[in-house]
Amino acid sequence: MKILIADGISPYGQEILKKNGIDFHIQHYEHDELLKEIPEYDGILVRSATKVTKDIIDAGKHLKLIARGGTGIDNIDHEYARSNGIPVLNTPGANSASVAELVFAHMFALARFIPQANITMRKGEWNKKTYKGYELAGKTLGIVGFGRIGQIVARMAIAFGMKVLVYGQMDIQTDLEVNIVAKDELLRESDFITLHVPKKAQNIITKAEFELMKPTAFIINTSRGGVVNEDDLLEALQSGKIAGAGIDAFLNEPTPNPALVNHPSVSVTPHIGASTKEAQDRVGIQIAEKIVAVLKK
Ligand code: MLT
Repeated sequence: MKILIADGISPYGQEILKKNGIDFHIQHYEHDELLKEIPEYDGILVRSATKVTKDIIDAGKHLKLIARGGTGIDNIDHEYARSNGIPVLNTPGANSASVAELVFAHMFALARFIPQANITMRKGEWNKKTYKGYELAGKTLGIVGFGRIGQIVARMAIAFGMKVLVYGQMDIQTDLEVNIVAKDELLRESDFITLHVPKKAQNIITKAEFELMKPTAFIINTSRGGVVNEDDLLEALQSGKIAGAGIDAFLNEPTPNPALVNHPSVSVTPHIGASTKEAQDRVGIQIAEKIVAVLKK
């Protein structure tokens, strides 16, 4: 049995595969190369860089599984894989705490002008008077989507003294001290808005939603590119409809819209929500155990 590990795996994950006699090769291939290489493998493990499309699945004549080190499986044509009897494995929850912490990294960065201060200090400027920031304590955080990550974000926000509003399409049951509200109320009342929805929730925030937000509001997207319409976000930033944005997930990764990346009111990161040692260790262990379970069945 041989697995292609296309976007990396932690040493703990490698250890589990080795211990169970599963051979693997760690190598990232671009799409056309992957098409040529995939027939050699019984399985493929990806993060978000590699797209496992229909043609890759068709070329993978020996594929017994497709594994995703992470929660979202939107970079895998999972319906097609499953319709061909190929299981698609993932690691829900393994990186949730890391994503939630990145939300706060962006919120603090925006509230205290950290990206702008970094850029200008490196140019030799000392803009102490310019960067009059805000505390998170006492502010209202609106959480759109209340799955694992949304709930961790809520807990942290409460600990920071924030008031938390939650909107979700599913019925929300929680013991946390949050107010479950309609989407419009959340958009109108929140000082910070963070999204924790799957990729299929494309354009959940568009021009109409930006119109409802406070001009002092900040929006954070660590979920998927396109969940916030990027053209409308740019327009909202340029016209001052909102105060700023923290963006970890872009529509065109790895070549996001430069106008968005370079806007002075944004804090940007290259889809690193899950990129902590702890999260990747958990992801590696969980996904390796799942791969072993399928291949040893
Ligand atoms: C996820 O869906 O869990 C993340 O996108 C994982 C990642 O960035 O590797």
